[in-house]
Amino acid sequence: MHARAHNRRQAGDDIVMLSIGEPHIPTPAAIVDKAADSLRSGRTKYAIGRGEPDLLATLAKRYSERSGREVTSNQVTFFPGSHTALYALCQTLLEAGDEILVPDPFYASYEGIIRASRASIVTVPLRPESGFHLEVASLEEAITPRSRVLLLNNPHNPTGAVLTPQRVQEIAEFCKRHDLWLISDEAYEHLIYDGTFASPFDMDEYAERTAVIASVSKSHAMTGWRCGWAVGSEELLERLVSVSEAMMFGAQPFAQDATDFALTNHFDELDQMYADYKRRARLVAEMLATSAAVDCHPPQGGIFVMVDVRATGLTGEEFAWQLLAEHNVATMPGESFGAAGGGHIRLSLTADDEDIERGCERIIRLAEGLVSS
Ligand SMILES: Cc1ncc(COP(=O)(O)O)c(C=O)c1O
Repeated sequence: MHARAHNRRQAGDDIVMLSIGEPHIPTPAAIVDKAADSLRSGRTKYAIGRGEPDLLATLAKRYSERSGREVTSNQVTFFPGSHTALYALCQTLLEAGDEILVPDPFYASYEGIIRASRASIVTVPLRPESGFHLEVASLEEAITPRSRVLLLNNPHNPTGAVLTPQRVQEIAEFCKRHDLWLISDEAYEHLIYDGTFASPFDMDEYAERTAVIASVSKSHAMTGWRCGWAVGSEELLERLVSVSEAMMFGAQPFAQDATDFALTNHFDELDQMYADYKRRARLVAEMLATSAAVDCHPPQGGIFVMVDVRATGLTGEEFAWQLLAEHNVATMPGESFGAAGGGHIRLSLTADDEDIERGCERIIRLAEGLVSS
């Protein structure tokens, strides 16, 4: 759908693009300068497989401060994005015949990443009625003797849900009870508008079974740089580093220098980016609340909003195609993130306010027309 909309836009059509989630600002100039300086200073050779020591120390400090426990450099490793970190973790923890529990709807790339490990995905429905907050009862229904891992994504793409610390604790307790690994995808940790971030890694009792993946992609408008990491126990990291060395043989030193710089400095542009997302999240929720034909789950975090269009009688896919064809608005059908996303469409908060307003007006117009016909 995004490709179709993009092509029409290239051909001159005035399409409102609310389909994908690229940060709307460039990477802060100071980070770009740091990378350029690093390149010029000769940081162009092979890097250390686990990651460059200064960056690992920065990450260790960050997670020590966050968890209140000492996290060492042996517990972290650099990856080209959290996507790659997840790939390596799946290769490390899973094999054919294993099952991984994945709350549904989910970030669409999970499917290919997990399939490459030959493990099976067992989806755990997130219910719109519960604000798409993962429930332990749903996990209990999905678990089997072959379950090995739970993949938790908090704040959540595509729903914008942020789990309470108590819910995260209950989920981690479930993993302990069933002796599961917990992969915690924290790509949106720093984009929370309503609620408190919590990670099972920061809870002493569950830290050993938890692997965190995260990156500067969304927090620092650095999606194309491919700079992320994994954090976990020393024993897990030892195995993970063997896998990552086989995959990559280290990652670009200048990109790691830029990541270290990004994590240890403050950037006013990023405050503005955060304020923009927060304002737009409220804007979408307020606009869509004016119509009974749609229902919106006000996003608590991340850069996406799920809009419930079930009252129109269409699937998310049918609604999204009709919206593009008749009203020139590109969104993503909820079904593209899993069956539990059915009857919804996903909007991105990375478009500017004017486009978001135009998009919401047209969503309401289409939905009300369908409801009254
Ligand atoms: C939930 C989630 N996890 C992981 C990623 C991958 O991010 P990156 O590999 O850029 O760190 C994304 C990107 O959109 C995402 O939405």
